[in-house]
Amino acid sequence: MHMTRRPLVAALATTLVAATASLAGGTAFAQGKEVKIGYALAVNSHFGAAANTWAEAVDQGTNGAYKFKQFPSSALGGERELIEGLQLGTVEAAVVSTGALSNFVPDVGLVDIPFLFRDTQHARAVMDGAFGQELLAKFQKRGLVALAWGEQGFRHLSNNKHAVNGVADLKGLKIRVTENPVHITAFRTLGASPTPMSWPEVIGALQQGTIDGQENPVSVLTSAKLWQVQKHLTLTSHVYAPMALLVSPSFWGSLNASQKAAFTEGAKKGAIASRAFVDTVEKKGIEEARANGMKVVDKVDQAAFRAALEPAYKEYAKKFGQKTLDAITATK
Ligand code: PAF
Repeated sequence: MHMTRRPLVAALATTLVAATASLAGGTAFAQGKEVKIGYALAVNSHFGAAANTWAEAVDQGTNGAYKFKQFPSSALGGERELIEGLQLGTVEAAVVSTGALSNFVPDVGLVDIPFLFRDTQHARAVMDGAFGQELLAKFQKRGLVALAWGEQGFRHLSNNKHAVNGVADLKGLKIRVTENPVHITAFRTLGASPTPMSWPEVIGALQQGTIDGQENPVSVLTSAKLWQVQKHLTLTSHVYAPMALLVSPSFWGSLNASQKAAFTEGAKKGAIASRAFVDTVEKKGIEEARANGMKVVDKVDQAAFRAALEPAYKEYAKKFGQKTLDAITATK
């Protein structure tokens, strides 16, 4: 009898000691503390690439003390709800576009200005440089913690009415835009009819024809298979779209310094993974869209778009300061 009981008692005692030690260390149980992370698209997207890499890096960097639980495809709601969840502390982490962000951190709106960035290299230099890093710091005052800038790519226009070859073709088109004042001003100035809408509603609205089109980078086009609901694509490259890797302030406050470092380093790795994903998808995504029946306009006269946007640029300069805009343009 004793012979069989002893190992059991010993095992229970060992478990108890391990659990107590782990609690005392503030780290938790064998499974690691759960970190809920939400984002808009599927796991096999640039959002998923960022989240997976971030999760892995945190797992390694904290010796398994924190485990991400992923909620892709807007499972926790639209981006606005997700950001509110971070502020309330009901969600620990998120990867979001700048779509709804400027309603929370107004200065983010600056990066949404059309044709502000010359190309990907320019955009990455600005986001990784002093401007982008200072912008991350501004989240704190708004009840958010931002750790890195990932990427979606440059936004292009799609619609179901007709080929858009130039500014005049935008007239009256009902274009879904993010809930973003800078984008709304831009499309209104270009003569379109911008309709702000949360992403989870977009596919249904395109199917039902309550909107004619939308605008998003190739990474989103392929992930959401937008050719199933859109006929025409114009490669306008009108806005650079970064994405932010965020954590909730209450969760952040519960971490010690080395855990904070693991989350920050992990977020930076996640951001790099999203850029690598975008680099690949941009190469083959347009061909995929064509193969799936989309009619693609490869190029527009961007100077003509910029000229048409002149009144909007005046508004942006008033809002964000011409000096800051010039400094971004001057960045090499
Ligand atoms: O258009 C948007 O709302 C965003 O770009 C999306 C699709 C949610 C991806 O972040």
